[in-house]
Amino acid sequence: MTTTPQAHDTNSNSSLPEIIGSSPAMREVYRLTRQVAKSKASVLLLGETGTGKELVAKALHRLSLRKNGPYVRVNCGALTESLLESELFGHVAGAFTGAVKNRSGRFEAAHTGTIFLDEINSTTAKLQVKLLRVLQEREFERVGDTQTVQVDCRVIAAANCDLMEEVEAGRFREDLYYRLNVVPIHLPPLRERREDIPELVGHFLNDYNEENDRYVAHISPQAIEALQEYHWPGNVRELQNYVERAVVMAQGDELTVDLLPASIIGGQRKRSSRSRPADLETLTYELVQEGLGAAGPQEDSMHTKIVNRVERELIAQVMAACDNVQVKAAARLGINRNTLHKKLKEYGLGGE
Ligand SMILES: Nc1ncnc2c1ncn2[C@@H]1O[C@H](COP(=O)(O)OP(=O)(O)OP(=O)(O)O)[C@@H](O)[C@H]1O
Ligand SMILES: [Mg+2]
Repeated sequence: MTTTPQAHDTNSNSSLPEIIGSSPAMREVYRLTRQVAKSKASVLLLGETGTGKELVAKALHRLSLRKNGPYVRVNCGALTESLLESELFGHVAGAFTGAVKNRSGRFEAAHTGTIFLDEINSTTAKLQVKLLRVLQEREFERVGDTQTVQVDCRVIAAANCDLMEEVEAGRFREDLYYRLNVVPIHLPPLRERREDIPELVGHFLNDYNEENDRYVAHISPQAIEALQEYHWPGNVRELQNYVERAVVMAQGDELTVDLLPASIIGGQRKRSSRSRPADLETLTYELVQEGLGAAGPQEDSMHTKIVNRVERELIAQVMAACDNVQVKAAARLGINRNTLHKKLKEYGLGGE
């Protein structure tokens, strides 16, 4: 391989266009993205909803040698099995009721470019077999056809759940998992990189000021504090929505705490009062009701399921209260640090 003038860029952890955040966790994302972009390897993007998986998928395409080729996104979670099959692979006339014309699929559309398979965990067993073949052999047949189509496209997939857990539960093929997971990139949840919040708020303020012809230039210390304290289940997308709402509602040039949703400020109050155990109680109650309501015998025992969910919540809360410092959290929980480390990993709570 020849050395290009930008070769030093490949290992750089400098930011990517449109992706904000300079926390160590995000810099690692930038480094990995730049490093793998130029290869043909499949990339699996893992992260909770709203953490920026789609932004990274686009960046991977733009930084790749295929940047002038098409970038095609398919949301595998939005279609039924047969519609998704025809969307991905195309069909021939008469293949099923309503298939009046031959139609090429999204894999063919992505030829020489990149295909981004979003919510890959939603695919059924039948489609997983077909996807495995495309990844291995780079070929497939349109639905209802016998002729084989060859494609050259880079596959990026995303899942917003723990895909290994899906493999273990028998819902996702292990061979497909390994094929996709050549290079995994984990997008950290916002609550694990709170230091990026001010920068993100600044970025979204700029965007929404411009869009709404406003000039909200400052953020009050209480507002920043509330944003830093909140646990962000919807991650950056949720933050973006709150900033937009605040800009639209603002009277002056400051983002004040009263412009934020009550649920955020409520969360902050809860944190400093003693109501946390009640949260766990509510969670347990809801889980038990859910378990009792489920028809027939369950795959996992109700006990294991509920204990795991409650333990996950307990650890997440204690970690947040300890600013994600594992030694502190382990001491508070009264468990060994290695045990905590293992559990963080097991529960997808960002333990490396
Ligand atoms: N680091 C970031 N910097 C700037 N904007 C971001 C960042 N992360 C996410 N966003 C914004 O948040 C929104 C959600 O991001 P994106 O769609 O990439 O998330 P996702 O991980 O694909 O979520 P989902 O699993 O729900 O599809 C988008 O509007 C995106 O622009
Ligand atoms: Mg997405």
